[in-house]
Amino acid sequence: MENYFEKIQKYLHTGHAEEMDNRIERLRKYIDEILLNMKDTQERRCGYLHLYGVSQTCAFIALKRNQDVELATMVGMLHDLHSYKVMNTENHAEHGAVLARQILEELSLTTEKETDLICSAIRNHSSKAATHSAFDEVLKDADVLQHYLYNPLFTVMEQEKCRLQNLLTEFGIKRI
Ligand SMILES: [Fe+2]
Repeated sequence: MENYFEKIQKYLHTGHAEEMDNRIERLRKYIDEILLNMKDTQERRCGYLHLYGVSQTCAFIALKRNQDVELATMVGMLHDLHSYKVMNTENHAEHGAVLARQILEELSLTTEKETDLICSAIRNHSSKAATHSAFDEVLKDADVLQHYLYNPLFTVMEQEKCRLQNLLTEFGIKRI
């Protein structure tokens, strides 16, 4: 029997099973299994919101900057997965990169070069004050944008203000 997520996915993709056979959906299925096994329902909710929220903002920013939208969607889903899986954020960028490599290799989803690209972005994503590669920057900006879009009425964290302002300017948005 189809589970809830398969039903949602089929609904979103007008029921065409072949639409589900791509790397993003194969990775989503794997990540859903990890999130569904989280005991703490509040943390599970946060995991879904943040990982898939960042995945979507990654896709949007990647489209704007001519970066690989497929890999950007995937890196967003993976970037904080380790933190939610073990419920510990200590050194989470490094641990997240290791877990991402393990998953991508286990699922044989990406080439070595693609895996390196994804893992580098995850490894560097906590260094918001520094600038890394164009693909790394997509993830950092997407992380900040998701925090903001969760509730634009919340006060923006000091360390995210500059990056958010630059991002809004890039998208032609005058103020926050
Ligand atoms: Fe994040």
